[in-house]
Amino acid sequence: MSRLDRCYNIADLREVAESRLPKGVFDYIDKGTEDMQSLGNNRSAMTDIKLLNRVITDISDIQLEADIFGSSAAMPLAIAPTGTAGLAWYEGEFELAKAAAASGVPFTLATGSNTPMEKLANEAGGRLWMQLYMWKEKHFSDELVKKAARNGFEALLWTVDIGHGANREHNLRNGFATPYVINAKSVVDMLRHPTWLSTVMGRYFMNGGMPKHVNYPEGYQMPITGNVSKLGDKKPTTKRADQLSWDDVDRLRDIFPGKLLIKGIMRADDAEQAIEHGVDGIVVSNHGGRNMDSAPAPIQVLPEIVKAVDGRMKIIVDSGVRRGSDIVKCMALGADAVLAGRATLYGTAAGGEAGATKAIDILKDEMKRTMAYIGKQRVSEISQDDIWDGSLPGRDAI
Ligand SMILES: Cc1cc2nc3c(=O)[nH]c(=O)nc-3n(C[C@H](O)[C@H](O)[C@H](O)COP(=O)(O)O)c2cc1C
Repeated sequence: MSRLDRCYNIADLREVAESRLPKGVFDYIDKGTEDMQSLGNNRSAMTDIKLLNRVITDISDIQLEADIFGSSAAMPLAIAPTGTAGLAWYEGEFELAKAAAASGVPFTLATGSNTPMEKLANEAGGRLWMQLYMWKEKHFSDELVKKAARNGFEALLWTVDIGHGANREHNLRNGFATPYVINAKSVVDMLRHPTWLSTVMGRYFMNGGMPKHVNYPEGYQMPITGNVSKLGDKKPTTKRADQLSWDDVDRLRDIFPGKLLIKGIMRADDAEQAIEHGVDGIVVSNHGGRNMDSAPAPIQVLPEIVKAVDGRMKIIVDSGVRRGSDIVKCMALGADAVLAGRATLYGTAAGGEAGATKAIDILKDEMKRTMAYIGKQRVSEISQDDIWDGSLPGRDAI
Protein backbone atom coordinates (compact mmCIF):
# COMPACT_ATOMS: atom_id res chain seq x y z
CA MET A 1 0.00 0.00 0.00
CA SER A 2 1.50 3.34 -1.05
CA ARG A 3 1.50 6.45 1.12
CA LEU A 4 -1.15 7.93 -1.18
CA ASP A 5 -3.37 4.87 -0.68
CA ARG A 6 -3.25 5.55 3.04
CA CYS A 7 -4.56 9.11 2.57
CA TYR A 8 -8.26 9.23 3.36
CA ASN A 9 -8.73 12.99 3.44
CA ILE A 10 -7.01 16.26 2.59
CA ALA A 11 -5.45 16.44 6.07
CA ASP A 12 -3.69 13.13 5.34
CA LEU A 13 -2.32 14.52 2.07
CA ARG A 14 -1.14 17.58 3.97
CA GLU A 15 0.77 15.33 6.36
CA VAL A 16 2.54 13.55 3.51
CA ALA A 17 3.32 16.92 1.92
CA GLU A 18 4.81 18.12 5.19
CA SER A 19 7.08 15.12 5.47
CA ARG A 20 8.26 15.39 1.83
CA LEU A 21 8.91 19.12 1.62
CA PRO A 22 11.61 21.26 3.22
CA LYS A 23 10.10 23.35 6.01
CA GLY A 24 10.61 26.58 4.05
CA VAL A 25 8.57 25.28 1.12
CA PHE A 26 5.90 23.60 3.25
CA ASP A 27 5.35 26.69 5.40
CA TYR A 28 5.14 28.84 2.29
CA ILE A 29 2.28 26.68 1.05
CA ASP A 30 0.59 25.96 4.35
CA LYS A 31 0.70 29.14 6.38
CA GLY A 32 -0.92 32.55 6.28
CA THR A 33 0.28 35.97 7.35
CA GLU A 34 1.06 37.70 10.65
CA ASP A 35 -1.02 36.03 13.42
CA MET A 36 -2.76 33.74 10.93
CA GLN A 37 -6.18 34.88 12.12
CA SER A 38 -7.56 34.94 8.64
CA LEU A 39 -6.23 31.47 7.85
CA GLY A 40 -7.83 30.00 10.98
CA ASN A 41 -11.05 31.91 10.53
CA ASN A 42 -11.43 30.60 6.97
CA ARG A 43 -11.70 27.12 8.42
CA SER A 44 -13.76 27.92 11.51
CA ALA A 45 -16.25 29.99 9.49
CA MET A 46 -16.65 27.02 7.16
CA THR A 47 -17.11 24.46 9.92
CA ASP A 48 -19.51 26.75 11.82
CA ILE A 49 -22.03 26.35 9.00
CA LYS A 50 -24.26 23.34 9.58
CA LEU A 51 -26.21 21.44 6.97
CA LEU A 52 -29.58 19.80 7.55
CA ASN A 53 -30.24 16.14 6.81
CA ARG A 54 -33.17 15.47 4.53
CA VAL A 55 -34.44 11.91 4.95
CA ILE A 56 -36.64 9.32 3.26
CA THR A 57 -35.91 10.55 -0.23
CA ASP A 58 -34.39 9.24 -3.50
CA ILE A 59 -30.60 9.46 -3.48
CA SER A 60 -29.95 6.73 -6.05
CA ASP A 61 -28.66 9.02 -8.82
CA ILE A 62 -26.54 11.82 -7.39
CA GLN A 63 -24.60 13.79 -9.99
CA LEU A 64 -21.96 16.40 -9.26
CA GLU A 65 -21.79 17.97 -12.73
CA ALA A 66 -22.10 21.74 -12.79
CA ASP A 67 -22.19 24.41 -15.44
CA ILE A 68 -19.14 26.66 -15.22
CA PHE A 69 -19.28 29.45 -17.80
CA GLY A 70 -21.49 27.55 -20.19
CA SER A 71 -19.59 24.26 -20.16
CA SER A 72 -20.17 21.28 -17.95
CA ALA A 73 -17.53 20.48 -15.33
CA ALA A 74 -17.37 17.21 -13.40
CA MET A 75 -18.11 19.16 -10.23
CA PRO A 76 -18.45 22.86 -9.28
CA LEU A 77 -14.72 23.16 -8.68
CA ALA A 78 -11.73 24.71 -10.42
CA ILE A 79 -8.09 24.65 -9.36
CA ALA A 80 -6.89 27.96 -7.88
CA PRO A 81 -3.72 29.63 -9.12
CA THR A 82 -0.83 28.79 -6.81
CA GLY A 83 2.56 30.25 -7.64
CA THR A 84 5.62 28.12 -6.95
CA ALA A 85 3.74 24.81 -7.33
CA GLY A 86 6.93 23.81 -9.16
CA LEU A 87 8.65 23.51 -5.77
CA ALA A 88 6.01 21.12 -4.45
CA TRP A 89 6.79 18.62 -7.21
CA TYR A 90 8.88 18.60 -10.37
CA GLU A 91 6.82 20.68 -12.83
CA GLY A 92 4.09 20.79 -10.19
CA GLU A 93 1.73 23.00 -12.21
CA PHE A 94 1.91 20.65 -15.14
CA GLU A 95 1.09 17.66 -12.90
CA LEU A 96 -1.82 19.53 -11.34
CA ALA A 97 -3.11 20.67 -14.72
CA LYS A 98 -3.08 17.10 -16.06
CA ALA A 99 -4.94 15.89 -12.97
CA ALA A 100 -7.53 18.65 -13.41
CA ALA A 101 -7.99 17.81 -17.09
CA ALA A 102 -8.44 14.10 -16.38
CA SER A 103 -10.85 14.88 -13.54
CA GLY A 104 -12.93 17.25 -15.66
CA VAL A 105 -12.35 20.52 -13.80
CA PRO A 106 -10.69 23.77 -14.98
CA PHE A 107 -7.12 24.57 -13.95
CA THR A 108 -5.76 28.08 -13.33
CA LEU A 109 -2.12 28.82 -14.09
CA ALA A 110 -0.55 31.44 -11.82
CA THR A 111 1.49 34.30 -13.27
CA GLY A 112 4.23 33.22 -10.86
CA SER A 113 4.35 29.66 -12.17
CA ASN A 114 7.34 27.78 -13.52
CA THR A 115 5.64 26.14 -16.50
CA PRO A 116 5.25 28.13 -19.72
CA MET A 117 1.62 28.69 -20.65
CA GLU A 118 2.39 27.26 -24.12
CA LYS A 119 3.37 23.91 -22.61
CA LEU A 120 0.11 23.67 -20.71
CA ALA A 121 -1.89 24.65 -23.76
CA ASN A 122 -0.13 22.07 -25.94
CA GLU A 123 0.30 19.19 -23.54
CA ALA A 124 -1.95 19.30 -20.49
CA GLY A 125 -5.38 19.30 -22.12
CA GLY A 126 -8.52 20.31 -20.29
CA ARG A 127 -9.93 23.73 -19.55
CA LEU A 128 -7.24 26.31 -18.84
CA TRP A 129 -7.59 29.60 -17.03
CA MET A 130 -4.81 32.17 -16.56
CA GLN A 131 -4.20 34.30 -13.49
CA LEU A 132 -2.76 37.79 -13.78
CA TYR A 133 -0.90 40.14 -11.48
CA MET A 134 -0.63 43.63 -12.92
CA TRP A 135 2.91 44.93 -13.37
CA LYS A 136 3.78 48.57 -12.94
CA GLU A 137 4.57 48.64 -16.64
CA LYS A 138 1.03 47.71 -17.60
CA HIS A 139 1.99 46.88 -21.16
CA PHE A 140 3.83 43.81 -19.78
CA SER A 141 0.55 42.60 -18.31
CA ASP A 142 -1.28 43.29 -21.54
CA GLU A 143 1.26 41.18 -23.41
CA LEU A 144 0.73 38.29 -21.02
CA VAL A 145 -3.04 38.58 -21.43
CA LYS A 146 -2.82 38.58 -25.22
CA LYS A 147 -0.49 35.58 -25.10
CA ALA A 148 -2.97 33.72 -22.89
CA ALA A 149 -5.72 34.50 -25.40
CA ARG A 150 -3.55 33.29 -28.31
CA ASN A 151 -2.90 30.05 -26.43
CA GLY A 152 -6.60 29.41 -26.01
CA PHE A 153 -6.93 30.12 -22.29
CA GLU A 154 -10.64 30.25 -21.61
CA ALA A 155 -10.64 32.68 -18.70
CA LEU A 156 -8.48 35.38 -17.16
CA LEU A 157 -8.48 35.84 -13.39
CA TRP A 158 -7.05 39.21 -12.42
CA THR A 159 -5.93 39.04 -8.78
CA VAL A 160 -6.38 42.38 -7.06
CA ASP A 161 -6.01 41.71 -3.34
CA ILE A 162 -2.25 41.87 -2.83
CA GLY A 163 -1.91 45.50 -1.70
CA HIS A 164 1.72 46.11 -0.80
CA GLY A 165 2.55 42.42 -0.55
CA ALA A 166 2.07 39.95 2.25
CA ASN A 167 3.69 40.02 5.67
CA ARG A 168 4.66 36.35 5.84
CA GLU A 169 6.95 36.29 8.84
CA HIS A 170 7.54 32.53 8.58
CA ASN A 171 9.15 33.05 5.15
CA LEU A 172 11.61 35.49 6.71
CA ARG A 173 12.38 33.07 9.53
CA ASN A 174 12.86 30.16 7.13
CA GLY A 175 14.88 32.21 4.63
CA PHE A 176 12.19 31.44 2.07
CA ALA A 177 12.09 34.16 -0.53
CA THR A 178 12.05 34.45 -4.27
CA PRO A 179 14.63 33.47 -5.23
CA TYR A 180 14.76 30.75 -2.55
CA VAL A 181 17.85 31.84 -0.63
CA ILE A 182 20.58 29.23 -0.44
CA ASN A 183 22.14 29.66 2.97
CA ALA A 184 23.24 27.36 5.79
CA LYS A 185 19.71 27.12 7.19
CA SER A 186 18.01 26.35 3.89
CA VAL A 187 20.74 23.88 2.89
CA VAL A 188 20.22 21.93 6.15
CA ASP A 189 16.46 22.11 5.55
CA MET A 190 16.90 20.67 2.05
CA LEU A 191 19.39 18.01 3.12
CA ARG A 192 16.85 16.77 5.63
CA HIS A 193 14.57 16.04 2.66
CA PRO A 194 16.77 13.99 0.31
CA THR A 195 13.84 12.61 -1.70
CA TRP A 196 12.62 16.13 -2.48
CA LEU A 197 16.18 17.21 -3.23
CA SER A 198 16.71 14.44 -5.77
CA THR A 199 13.21 14.17 -7.30
CA VAL A 200 12.45 17.89 -7.51
CA MET A 201 15.64 19.94 -7.50
CA GLY A 202 17.75 17.11 -8.91
CA ARG A 203 15.43 16.71 -11.88
CA TYR A 204 15.45 20.44 -12.62
CA PHE A 205 19.20 20.36 -12.45
CA MET A 206 19.41 17.39 -14.84
CA ASN A 207 16.95 19.02 -17.23
CA GLY A 208 18.57 22.35 -17.85
CA GLY A 209 18.79 24.19 -14.54
CA MET A 210 16.69 25.79 -11.89
CA PRO A 211 13.07 26.65 -12.69
CA LYS A 212 12.20 30.25 -13.49
CA HIS A 213 9.11 32.39 -13.45
CA VAL A 214 8.82 31.73 -17.14
CA ASN A 215 5.58 33.64 -17.61
CA TYR A 216 7.04 36.89 -16.28
CA PRO A 217 8.31 39.53 -18.71
CA GLU A 218 11.78 38.61 -19.91
CA GLY A 219 13.75 41.03 -17.73
CA TYR A 220 11.86 39.90 -14.61
CA GLN A 221 12.48 36.21 -14.96
CA MET A 222 14.87 34.71 -12.45
CA PRO A 223 15.66 31.25 -11.18
CA ILE A 224 13.62 30.39 -8.10
CA THR A 225 16.76 29.47 -6.21
CA GLY A 226 19.92 31.46 -5.87
CA ASN A 227 21.79 33.94 -3.77
CA VAL A 228 20.08 37.25 -4.46
CA SER A 229 22.74 39.32 -2.77
CA LYS A 230 25.30 38.07 -5.28
CA LEU A 231 23.21 39.43 -8.14
CA GLY A 232 23.76 43.00 -6.95
CA ASP A 233 22.35 45.55 -9.40
CA LYS A 234 21.37 42.78 -11.76
CA LYS A 235 18.74 41.52 -9.33
CA PRO A 236 15.45 41.54 -11.19
CA THR A 237 12.43 42.76 -9.25
CA THR A 238 8.78 42.14 -9.70
CA LYS A 239 7.25 45.55 -9.82
CA ARG A 240 3.56 45.11 -9.17
CA ALA A 241 1.32 48.03 -9.98
CA ASP A 242 0.14 49.97 -6.95
CA GLN A 243 -1.95 52.42 -8.95
CA LEU A 244 -4.96 50.53 -10.15
CA SER A 245 -8.29 51.78 -11.34
CA TRP A 246 -11.44 50.38 -12.87
CA ASP A 247 -10.11 51.66 -16.22
CA ASP A 248 -7.67 48.75 -16.02
CA VAL A 249 -10.66 46.41 -16.04
CA ASP A 250 -11.98 48.11 -19.18
CA ARG A 251 -8.59 47.70 -20.84
CA LEU A 252 -8.42 44.00 -19.93
CA ARG A 253 -11.99 43.60 -21.13
CA ASP A 254 -10.96 45.08 -24.49
CA ILE A 255 -7.93 42.86 -25.01
CA PHE A 256 -9.14 39.55 -23.58
CA PRO A 257 -11.91 37.90 -25.58
CA GLY A 258 -12.56 35.11 -23.07
CA LYS A 259 -14.20 35.18 -19.64
CA LEU A 260 -12.84 37.92 -17.40
CA LEU A 261 -12.92 37.45 -13.63
CA ILE A 262 -11.65 39.62 -10.80
CA LYS A 263 -10.14 37.60 -7.95
CA GLY A 264 -10.11 39.00 -4.44
CA ILE A 265 -13.45 40.81 -4.19
CA MET A 266 -14.77 40.93 -0.63
CA ARG A 267 -17.31 43.80 -0.73
CA ALA A 268 -20.73 44.12 -2.32
CA ASP A 269 -19.91 47.61 -3.67
CA ASP A 270 -16.77 46.32 -5.40
CA ALA A 271 -18.87 43.51 -6.86
CA GLU A 272 -21.31 46.14 -8.19
CA GLN A 273 -18.41 47.98 -9.84
CA ALA A 274 -17.23 44.74 -11.43
CA ILE A 275 -20.67 44.27 -12.99
CA GLU A 276 -20.65 47.85 -14.29
CA HIS A 277 -17.30 47.21 -15.96
CA GLY A 278 -18.58 44.15 -17.76
CA VAL A 279 -16.70 41.32 -16.10
CA ASP A 280 -18.06 37.80 -16.35
CA GLY A 281 -17.46 36.91 -12.75
CA ILE A 282 -15.64 37.47 -9.49
CA VAL A 283 -13.77 35.27 -7.08
CA VAL A 284 -14.79 36.11 -3.53
CA SER A 285 -11.48 35.40 -1.85
CA ASN A 286 -9.10 36.48 0.89
CA HIS A 287 -6.27 34.66 -0.92
CA GLY A 288 -6.49 31.71 1.46
CA GLY A 289 -5.63 33.93 4.43
CA ARG A 290 -2.33 34.81 2.79
CA ASN A 291 -2.70 38.57 2.52
CA MET A 292 -4.66 40.82 4.90
CA ASP A 293 -4.77 39.04 8.23
CA SER A 294 -7.83 40.96 9.44
CA ALA A 295 -10.00 39.88 6.54
CA PRO A 296 -13.23 38.01 7.23
CA ALA A 297 -13.67 34.61 5.63
CA PRO A 298 -15.09 34.81 2.09
CA ILE A 299 -17.90 32.46 3.12
CA GLN A 300 -18.95 35.09 5.72
CA VAL A 301 -19.31 37.87 3.14
CA LEU A 302 -20.65 35.63 0.38
CA PRO A 303 -24.37 36.04 1.25
CA GLU A 304 -24.32 39.85 1.02
CA ILE A 305 -22.37 39.71 -2.25
CA VAL A 306 -24.73 37.12 -3.73
CA LYS A 307 -27.65 39.32 -2.76
CA ALA A 308 -26.14 42.44 -4.35
CA VAL A 309 -25.10 40.64 -7.54
CA ASP A 310 -28.51 39.04 -7.93
CA GLY A 311 -27.48 36.70 -10.75
CA ARG A 312 -25.91 39.41 -12.95
CA MET A 313 -22.49 37.67 -13.05
CA LYS A 314 -20.92 34.44 -11.85
CA ILE A 315 -19.61 34.17 -8.31
CA ILE A 316 -16.80 31.81 -7.44
CA VAL A 317 -15.56 31.55 -3.86
CA ASP A 318 -12.38 30.21 -2.30
CA SER A 319 -10.37 30.07 0.92
CA GLY A 320 -10.71 27.24 3.39
CA VAL A 321 -12.14 24.46 1.23
CA ARG A 322 -10.83 21.18 2.67
CA ARG A 323 -13.87 18.91 2.51
CA GLY A 324 -16.53 18.12 -0.06
CA SER A 325 -19.09 19.38 2.44
CA ASP A 326 -17.40 22.81 2.23
CA ILE A 327 -18.19 22.90 -1.49
CA VAL A 328 -21.82 22.07 -0.74
CA LYS A 329 -21.94 24.91 1.81
CA CYS A 330 -20.56 27.40 -0.73
CA MET A 331 -23.13 26.29 -3.30
CA ALA A 332 -25.91 26.51 -0.72
CA LEU A 333 -24.93 30.12 -0.04
CA GLY A 334 -25.23 31.00 -3.72
CA ALA A 335 -21.78 30.45 -5.25
CA ASP A 336 -21.59 29.09 -8.79
CA ALA A 337 -18.36 27.22 -8.11
CA VAL A 338 -15.39 27.11 -5.74
CA LEU A 339 -11.62 27.19 -6.18
CA ALA A 340 -9.36 24.77 -4.33
CA GLY A 341 -5.91 26.11 -3.45
CA ARG A 342 -4.03 24.21 -0.78
CA ALA A 343 -6.21 21.08 -0.92
CA THR A 344 -4.98 20.11 -4.38
CA LEU A 345 -1.51 21.57 -3.80
CA TYR A 346 -1.01 19.26 -0.80
CA GLY A 347 -2.03 16.43 -3.13
CA THR A 348 0.50 17.56 -5.73
CA ALA A 349 3.25 17.75 -3.11
CA ALA A 350 2.31 14.30 -1.84
CA GLY A 351 2.30 12.57 -5.22
CA GLY A 352 2.42 14.75 -8.34
CA GLU A 353 -0.43 14.10 -10.76
CA ALA A 354 -1.59 11.01 -8.84
CA GLY A 355 -1.68 12.99 -5.59
CA ALA A 356 -3.57 15.88 -7.16
CA THR A 357 -6.07 13.43 -8.64
CA LYS A 358 -6.44 11.82 -5.23
CA ALA A 359 -7.25 15.22 -3.69
CA ILE A 360 -9.93 15.90 -6.31
CA ASP A 361 -11.37 12.39 -5.89
CA ILE A 362 -11.55 12.85 -2.12
CA LEU A 363 -13.45 16.13 -2.56
CA LYS A 364 -15.78 14.50 -5.11
CA ASP A 365 -16.53 11.55 -2.87
CA GLU A 366 -17.15 13.75 0.17
CA MET A 367 -19.36 16.10 -1.84
CA LYS A 368 -21.45 13.20 -3.07
CA ARG A 369 -21.88 11.84 0.46
CA THR A 370 -22.95 15.26 1.70
CA MET A 371 -25.50 15.59 -1.11
CA ALA A 372 -26.89 12.21 -0.08
CA TYR A 373 -27.30 13.42 3.50
CA ILE A 374 -29.09 16.59 2.48
CA GLY A 375 -31.20 14.66 -0.04
CA LYS A 376 -30.11 16.54 -3.17
CA GLN A 377 -29.31 14.67 -6.38
CA ARG A 378 -28.24 17.67 -8.51
CA VAL A 379 -25.91 20.56 -7.71
CA SER A 380 -28.48 23.03 -9.02
CA GLU A 381 -30.92 21.84 -6.33
CA ILE A 382 -28.59 22.76 -3.43
CA SER A 383 -29.93 25.88 -1.73
CA GLN A 384 -29.85 27.96 1.39
CA ASP A 385 -32.69 25.81 2.63
CA ASP A 386 -30.09 23.07 3.24
CA ILE A 387 -28.31 25.20 5.85
CA TRP A 388 -29.51 25.19 9.43
CA ASP A 389 -30.80 28.69 10.02
CA GLY A 390 -28.99 29.03 13.32
CA SER A 391 -25.65 28.72 11.55
CA LEU A 392 -26.26 30.99 8.56
CA PRO A 393 -23.44 33.55 8.08
CA GLY A 394 -24.46 37.18 7.50
CA ARG A 395 -28.08 36.42 8.36
CA ASP A 396 -29.07 40.07 8.47
CA ALA A 397 -27.92 40.58 4.89
CA ILE A 398 -30.25 37.95 3.48
C1 LIG B 1 1.25 28.34 -2.21
C2 LIG B 1 0.18 29.25 -2.71
C3 LIG B 1 0.48 30.14 -3.73
C4 LIG B 1 -0.51 31.00 -4.21
N1 LIG B 1 -0.22 31.81 -5.27
C5 LIG B 1 -1.20 32.58 -5.80
C6 LIG B 1 -0.95 33.35 -6.96
O1 LIG B 1 0.15 33.34 -7.50
N2 LIG B 1 -1.97 34.12 -7.45
C7 LIG B 1 -3.21 34.13 -6.86
O2 LIG B 1 -4.11 34.82 -7.34
N3 LIG B 1 -3.47 33.40 -5.77
C8 LIG B 1 -2.51 32.62 -5.23
N4 LIG B 1 -2.77 31.86 -4.13
C9 LIG B 1 -4.11 31.90 -3.54
C10 LIG B 1 -5.02 30.85 -4.17
O3 LIG B 1 -5.29 31.16 -5.52
C11 LIG B 1 -6.36 30.75 -3.44
O4 LIG B 1 -6.98 32.02 -3.41
C12 LIG B 1 -6.22 30.22 -2.02
O5 LIG B 1 -5.24 29.23 -1.95
C13 LIG B 1 -7.55 29.66 -1.55
O6 LIG B 1 -7.47 29.22 -0.24
P1 LIG B 1 -7.22 27.70 0.18
O7 LIG B 1 -5.76 27.45 0.01
O8 LIG B 1 -7.64 27.66 1.59
O9 LIG B 1 -8.05 26.84 -0.73
C14 LIG B 1 -1.80 30.98 -3.63
C15 LIG B 1 -2.08 30.08 -2.61
C16 LIG B 1 -1.12 29.22 -2.15
C17 LIG B 1 -1.47 28.24 -1.06
